Amino acid sequence: YSSFTLQNTHPYSHLIDTLKDGKLKFFNPQKLNDPRYEKLPLSIRVLLEAAIRKCDGFYTKEEDVQNILDWQQQQNTAEVPFPPARVLLQDFTGIPAMVDLAAMRDAVAKHGVDPGLISPMCPTDLIVDHSLQIDFSKCQAHPRSTPPRPLPRGGSQCGSQRSSCSKSGCSDPPTSPGHPPASVQQIENTPLLCPFHLQPVSEPETALKNQEMELIRNKERLQFFKWCSKAFKNVNVIPPDVGAVHQVNLEYLSRVVQVNDEFIYPDSVVGTDSHTTMINGLGILGWGVGGIESEAVMLGQPVSLTLPRVVGCKLVGSVNPLTTSIDIVLGITKHLRQAGIAGKFVEFFGPGVSQLSTPDRTTIANMCPEYNATVSFFPVDHVTLKHFKKTNFTQEKLELLESYMKAVKLFRSYEDPSEDPHYSEVIEINLSSIMPHVSGPKRPQDRVAVNSMKEDFRRCLDEKVGFKGFHISKEKQGTQVPFLHCGQEYQLAHGSVVIAAVISCTNNCNPSVMLTAGLLAKKAVEAGLVVKPYIRTSLAPGSGMVTHYLNTSGVLPYLSQLGFEVIGYGCATCVGNTAPLPDAVVDAIKHGDLVACGVLSGNRHFEGRLCDCVRANYLASPPLVVAYAIAGTVDIDFEKEPLGVTSDGKEVYLRDVWPSREEVLQTEEDTVISSIFRDRTGRMEKGNSFWNNLDCPDCVVFPWDHKSTYIRSPSFFNKLSKDPQPPQSIENAHALLFLGDKVTTDHISPAGSIARVSAAAKYLLSKRLTPREFNSYGARRGNDAVMTRGTFASIKLQNRFIGKPSPKTLHIPSGQTLDVFEAAERYQRDGIPLIILAGKGYGSGNSRDWVAKGPYLLGVRAIIAESFEKLHKTQLVGMGIMPLQFLPGESADSLELCGKERFTITLPDDMSLRQQLTVKTSQGKTFCVTALFESESDLVFYRHGGLLRYVARTML
Ligand SMILES: *[C@@H]1O[C@H](CO)[C@@H](O)[C@H](O)[C@H]1NC(C)=O
Ligand SMILES: *[C@@H]1O[C@H](CO)[C@@H](O)[C@H](O)[C@H]1NC(C)=O
Ligand SMILES: *[C@@H]1O[C@H](CO)[C@@H](O)[C@H](O)[C@H]1NC(C)=O
Ligand SMILES: *[C@@H]1O[C@H](CO)[C@@H](O)[C@H](O)[C@H]1NC(C)=O
Repeated sequence: YSSFTLQNTHPYSHLIDTLKDGKLKFFNPQKLNDPRYEKLPLSIRVLLEAAIRKCDGFYTKEEDVQNILDWQQQQNTAEVPFPPARVLLQDFTGIPAMVDLAAMRDAVAKHGVDPGLISPMCPTDLIVDHSLQIDFSKCQAHPRSTPPRPLPRGGSQCGSQRSSCSKSGCSDPPTSPGHPPASVQQIENTPLLCPFHLQPVSEPETALKNQEMELIRNKERLQFFKWCSKAFKNVNVIPPDVGAVHQVNLEYLSRVVQVNDEFIYPDSVVGTDSHTTMINGLGILGWGVGGIESEAVMLGQPVSLTLPRVVGCKLVGSVNPLTTSIDIVLGITKHLRQAGIAGKFVEFFGPGVSQLSTPDRTTIANMCPEYNATVSFFPVDHVTLKHFKKTNFTQEKLELLESYMKAVKLFRSYEDPSEDPHYSEVIEINLSSIMPHVSGPKRPQDRVAVNSMKEDFRRCLDEKVGFKGFHISKEKQGTQVPFLHCGQEYQLAHGSVVIAAVISCTNNCNPSVMLTAGLLAKKAVEAGLVVKPYIRTSLAPGSGMVTHYLNTSGVLPYLSQLGFEVIGYGCATCVGNTAPLPDAVVDAIKHGDLVACGVLSGNRHFEGRLCDCVRANYLASPPLVVAYAIAGTVDIDFEKEPLGVTSDGKEVYLRDVWPSREEVLQTEEDTVISSIFRDRTGRMEKGNSFWNNLDCPDCVVFPWDHKSTYIRSPSFFNKLSKDPQPPQSIENAHALLFLGDKVTTDHISPAGSIARVSAAAKYLLSKRLTPREFNSYGARRGNDAVMTRGTFASIKLQNRFIGKPSPKTLHIPSGQTLDVFEAAERYQRDGIPLIILAGKGYGSGNSRDWVAKGPYLLGVRAIIAESFEKLHKTQLVGMGIMPLQFLPGESADSLELCGKERFTITLPDDMSLRQQLTVKTSQGKTFCVTALFESESDLVFYRHGGLLRYVARTML
């Protein structure tokens, strides 16, 4: 920290208490002796503790602490800082942050400062997970090893893999095959691909092959990550194939309390994974942020948030024994969605909470994005402690955790209403009102009670095309299409299940649900039931732990017999990477114009996401996925119709094979034990053999490979002087772009595939890459040259200089129309500073990591808009770009600006908060704008040319 922030004494040192005979210290907010503390929601107490501990007078001030304490009055009003205990990154979002830190090392080394001093200030875990794709999936009809699969009646094993595994009716991927999707945000907006490099591989090799492919594709970036983990302090890289981000976070990284420099404090996290909120189920406050925010946290800046309202969700009543936690999740989600709690915290309380296991809680917490809550927080109680007993927490650690949490009143006993905090509002949910449901056929919010599924599906066939309708005429509803698969004839009808996936997405962290599925499979196999071989079945557990407990409980072979075999770890089917359907199935679907179904155990889905020929997709609990796969159709009433008929003609009903809750919980207790976690920890530490064998440079500054097109040292630190320059006026600037209202981050930041005629494409061609090798912008975030060229390269950009949506702009001095990058390059070459003119709501939309870096590298010094999205404004300041706002009621039009004039903005030596500045144009106009610097740290960052340069200078 700069001298600006240095203080001899901590303003809250009088709150320090000790534990363990004085060996551990902590800030105890109870010593404020303020009656308001015990009435605060526990999630707000976590914010308060962090503000007290990190109170440095710069990022966090005593006033912030007072505001949080005064939550009752200040909620929804005060802006407060939140310095999380750690940052969670996944590979693709982690690259730019790590590249910047590596470049910062070079920059300080040039000034003779030890580059080893540069490391993230906030502990950072980076998980290599999203690059996994299922290049290899076992052929359905391939001979199995253990145990022998009962052959389909009258059928033989299929000799030809071609029929079931060749490229089929799925749409071609938009980028070259096998390239991983970029990030969660991008996945939502990018057409999803069906991989076509599909080859049958014998069983044990499947996972191994996937690892190899992943490694070959990503070697360069993996080597860089390995260097990061060795060179930086505070960076922990989880190698590929250990598990999905959220799973690793839950099972391995969660600490509940952190111990650091003799201080103990609550764990908390921000992550670039959309499932980060899961962690709140363990009493750890955390949520998802964009790449650029997580980088700022790594550089020491807290997240800023409006002190949230907290909705207390009171759980009463008892859980219906047939209800899985998925049903509970969907039931509670429905209530919360209706309650309209967007942007608020939800905190659970009431006697019903202790009936939910930690897996139940984390599953519920994961659903926040569905109802737009920031977090769904479950304060730590005895159930949480019991959970950690199963992990690698020693008894000593558990005792410490409990005594600390009790000392600061972050421990809950849900049965005791006298402990209940005051909430902004309360929603009550009776658990006994929750019944099993599935949802679909198109949206997660369309829930269907399992016992009315048949009725509902038939109604959907009738209804006109929409979320709940396919409009199949009456006479066509009975269509049956016969087809051959592996020499055997089958029939497809409306409602036939062709994809059944038990997937990693979100809910199989709940052992009881997966075990229910496994036990159901066991009972079904024992009863003589089979799954038709053309159904694309798969099992993609979120982590090795799931496989492990399915195996130790003895159910894995039965799942495998029904076709649910482990195909790999990580985000797989959930992001659309399923293997293609057999050609014959696709042809039959098309021929009969059938509404074929996918059944999957996720909690989000999109039409056509699994495969575009599958029109109905239902989300169901894993045991129901297995049940519908056996039935082969969703057009079934489980009460009245048998699930299947055995080879000797016996009808078997779902109730005959559904395991009892007692059986499930007993199996869970017997198998999901501490050894599993220990096993996993061991696996994590060892890493896999690929990772360990991967060579990586062993040096303090990164040896950039100048030929690399993925990783490049960005130019943020060029000409870094020891001291910041006084603010420079902007003289005779040109407008690079003249934009209207609602320019979103999608227009600004590069995303998706790289168009062949773009500036980025020209650059990559000049590096001798072929278009097939371009990959996506997401994959090239570690290369500032590509990303800068992709900035404002959206074909939807509405630039008034051009008059129609286009990624081009007018180079005013020459009158030529150029790619935005090329125009910017010319201006930079001629030493002409740049600004951007915009309308209302500039920079709304998802946070994207290049949204401010890109404009900065294009040479944009200021953006004059009618209004800015709050978060984006912060991002601009963080990159040293001035967000300037027209005075209320004024705009480019009201001031009659044509955009082609030159602009001079004079800055005083000493800028103050929200200062008005005068803009003069070459046409002789003069108008005022407000510089949106809202805090001292904003001014400091601006003076330094952004947060990155500020942090680098503190080291000089
Ligand atoms: C919850 O609902 C059940 C069944 O409708 C009812 O018997 C019970 O009294 C309710 N519990 C509470 C606390 O409202
Ligand atoms: C959640 O937020 C999105 C975007 O802000 C909005 O479109 C959607 O309607 C919100 N959903 C709910 C349930 O509030
Ligand atoms: C569990 O093990 C990992 C790896 O050794 C370690 O980082 C973590 O702190 C451990 N957790 C506890 C509570 O001991
Ligand atoms: C399941 O457990 C058996 C016996 O411990 C082991 O040989 C086998 O490799 C395990 N299978 C998987 C998929 O973990």
